[in-house]
Amino acid sequence: MSETAAQWAATRRARAEIDLVALGANVRALRERAPGAALMAVVKSDAYGHGAIPCARAAVAAGATWLGTATPQEALALRAAGLPDDVRIMCWLWTPGGPWREAIEADLDVSVSAMWALKEVGEAARRTGRPARVQLKADTGLGRNGCQPGEDWAELVREALRAEREGLLRVTGLWSHFACADEPGHPSIAVQLARFREMTEYAEQQGVRPDVRHIANSPATLTLPEAHFDLVRCGIAVYGVSPSPEVGTPADFGLRPVMTLSASLALVKQVPGGHGVSYGHHYTTPGATTLGLVPLGYADGIPRHASSTGPVLVDGKWRTVAGRVAMDQFVVDLGGDRPEPGARAVLFGPGDRGEPTAEDWAQAAGTIAYEIVTRIGTRVPRVYVNE
Ligand SMILES: Cc1ncc(COP(=O)(O)O)c(C=O)c1O
Repeated sequence: MSETAAQWAATRRARAEIDLVALGANVRALRERAPGAALMAVVKSDAYGHGAIPCARAAVAAGATWLGTATPQEALALRAAGLPDDVRIMCWLWTPGGPWREAIEADLDVSVSAMWALKEVGEAARRTGRPARVQLKADTGLGRNGCQPGEDWAELVREALRAEREGLLRVTGLWSHFACADEPGHPSIAVQLARFREMTEYAEQQGVRPDVRHIANSPATLTLPEAHFDLVRCGIAVYGVSPSPEVGTPADFGLRPVMTLSASLALVKQVPGGHGVSYGHHYTTPGATTLGLVPLGYADGIPRHASSTGPVLVDGKWRTVAGRVAMDQFVVDLGGDRPEPGARAVLFGPGDRGEPTAEDWAQAAGTIAYEIVTRIGTRVPRVYVNE
């Protein structure tokens, strides 16, 4: 869909273009990597900042049969958006008193890591009169959410089967999550895989008949075929960003970054040498030069840690954030060039039009590209291109 004049006017200051054709192609590339498994597009945190509903639709159109979120509220919003009924939606971050009943009525797959959650979901199912779809989560070594192996797992499996026999729930999945899949060859990967096999085999011997067993996130989908099982859960790779430089570049896997973040220069002005720039004067112009004002700041998700380091493409040249990133704006030294006010400053994009990438910003800010794209704030309009 081409953009209207009104849309362009509303997004003059700054915009995050979201290329849904690239997203669809990424989903297809990931399906080719894991041909024996179904694909879950992880669209939590507003699809890593890309917009949950449009991205979910594009992912489903490209062959994702599952969607994943952290919170039940995110999953309920997806169901309410009217995606095809046969799309399975799973959410995994529950706290006591959560909306179990609504989740059961919306046919969500809910994750259970502990007895308190199994009890709450069973009680909600009794009140609702419908069985819940429950996926038991094993902590195979991440040390975060998930049920510990041994006694805890035996109790959870036993009680889940008891509730299943009572008609309160169906155990639809057995699953886990990797700690270090973004560091290929890390010794914890083999340990977690072995433990996952043991814990799923134990549950199956006890009588669990899951629809799906799954442990692979994006890095495991890209690098570890033995971890694919029945379903792969891909987040960052769906958005065309590599999980880590050690895993490879997006192009190595046929992926293309989906988000391009740009802004219009709000001011271009000449200043003399020795001029302090932005709060704290952490940058001083080395000589007479031009400064460009980029109307994006940490309130928009531009990391303050990228002060004096973040790269920006202006008029075909890479420039660097001059001094501190402020709440709403930062400055680049244009080295005497005089682009017109309104000229486009591209912070990051796919990288094949000369612009930096989210990975470049991650390195400039000492973080990971996940954080760069996910934290782009709600004040930046998302513009869906190639819908
Ligand atoms: C449980 C779970 N599965 C899958 C993912 C997707 O991970 P990635 O973005 O590395 O594909 C996440 C994201 O952190 C997650 O929390």
